[in-house]
Amino acid sequence: VTAKAHLPIGIFDSGIGGLTVVREVHRALPHEDVVYLGDTARVPYGTKSPETVTRFACEDAQFLVRKKVKAIVVACNTASAWALATLQSQFRVPIFGVITPGAQAAWEKTRNRCIGVIATAATIRSRAYQVAIADFDEQAKVIACPCPLLVPLVEEGWLEHKVTQAVLQEYLLPLLREKVDTLILGCTHYPLLKSAIGRIAGRQVALVDSAECCARFITEHLGRAKLLNPQRDRKGRIHSYVTDDTEHFEKMADRFLGFPVEQAWKVELPALLVKR
Ligand code: DGL
Repeated sequence: VTAKAHLPIGIFDSGIGGLTVVREVHRALPHEDVVYLGDTARVPYGTKSPETVTRFACEDAQFLVRKKVKAIVVACNTASAWALATLQSQFRVPIFGVITPGAQAAWEKTRNRCIGVIATAATIRSRAYQVAIADFDEQAKVIACPCPLLVPLVEEGWLEHKVTQAVLQEYLLPLLREKVDTLILGCTHYPLLKSAIGRIAGRQVALVDSAECCARFITEHLGRAKLLNPQRDRKGRIHSYVTDDTEHFEKMADRFLGFPVEQAWKVELPALLVKR
């Protein structure tokens, strides 16, 4: 065990959705403390340019580094897709994204080597999932579909609404027609739509939850790096910071996290010059 093992794990997202990743990390590693940053003032990232997403992600990571975290998890798929390599070159703490763990799980699950990916427009445009899957299996067929309407529907709480059902049909039918047997839910918000998606995709399509895969991945990596907290008789705490009003965040958090958050704190992120 290294001296840093007692420090918290930092997790950031463009907003509130990253709490689905916190939920899985907390479930996998219940005695770890977590410092969460949701950039609620600048959400969404999924519609923005690579340069902007990368700049925001670096500022988010810098905030967590100053909070003295032992590792950083980029919960946001869009930020993982565009900014992971830059983040890893700018900061010395270990930084993990959600793309590779999801791609690996999909590669392990698929039988017909035809994998679907749903995500924000920016994540799909980045081709990050396609590239990550090709690293495991160059011949795998990847069918990617941007689903820009899903984030607002989830934030509205319309998880079982007939409108959401109709939107999902529209997005998913072309993928199903191509006979994907595995579907990556490549966005922080989509775990909340798992049952609605499952009903349309059917049992023969395996759903890959990128939050779950990421929690498994970091458990393994932190273990190997001797960075897991050796104090196992304690319950980890989750400290939340947001860049906009805390009230809205605290009210919505429950739905993504599965339990209420402790009080959140509002912070300002200092600008950062990204070296290229
Ligand atoms: N967190 C984003 C993602 O996982 C979704 C919300 C946004 O567009 O910022 O891609």
